[in-house]
Amino acid sequence: MTESELKELIVESGDIPGHIAIIMDGNGRWAEIRGRPRVFGHQHGMNAVRAVVEGCRELGCKALTLYAFSEENWKRPRSEIKVLMRLLRKYIEKEQNNLKKDGIKLRCLGRLGKIDAEPRKTLEEAVAYTADCNDMVLNLAISYGSRSEIVDAARYLCREAAAGRLDPESVDEYTFAGALYTSGLPDPDLLIRTSGEMRVSNFLLWQIAYTEIYITPILWPDFTKKDLFEAIGEFQKRDRRFGRVKSKK
Ligand code: FPP
Repeated sequence: MTESELKELIVESGDIPGHIAIIMDGNGRWAEIRGRPRVFGHQHGMNAVRAVVEGCRELGCKALTLYAFSEENWKRPRSEIKVLMRLLRKYIEKEQNNLKKDGIKLRCLGRLGKIDAEPRKTLEEAVAYTADCNDMVLNLAISYGSRSEIVDAARYLCREAAAGRLDPESVDEYTFAGALYTSGLPDPDLLIRTSGEMRVSNFLLWQIAYTEIYITPILWPDFTKKDLFEAIGEFQKRDRRFGRVKSKK
């Protein structure tokens, strides 16, 4: 089936995930297979980023969250971190006008204070530049760890309670979700992980409680718009029950 046939099929089905999250894995292996340095894989991974942003926008998906750099990734060699930050800047500088034109709001999720001043400034400016866009949200998880996110939310709520602005007894799942970096966004409907690893790697642990997980052996730089549509096609076959019994048709 061609990409456009697949697209037609999933659009006809009507059940397009409102929020897709992706663990973009396998850049290093993709480069190693080709006898090239790991950063070569990251460079090619950018094309896949462009393709999935475009694919989500075409389908009318409301939010896309990409795991671009984990808190654990700070332990990688300094040279690799520098290239990743440079690529992020390059992506933002090149794409921010397109994002704005397409109505895509950029958000960054993570402990951004750890990022060097220059890439941080680029990210913050692009976030401000696209702040009034409302068709879709592109979340870049950078310097992101889900446990840290939960800790940061707990600290925020504790501070609010200590200052007398919040009654601890009033804290429920909704209040807590509102204190996470993803505040205001629906939970992901579909989580895609490339490169075949069967892990969630400290990504959106709170938010994926009822998310459908799709794992593909494709390495991230090879992931295309058609692969995204295939993942969505699989998602549409799932029977989502959210803990309830199957509804009778
Ligand atoms: C995981 O592959 C990928 C990353 C740690 C970085 C992802 C970054 C990009 C796709 C490039 C730029 C991103 C944006 C949003 C513009 P890995 O290095 O862990 O691969 P391996 O498991 O094969 O070693």
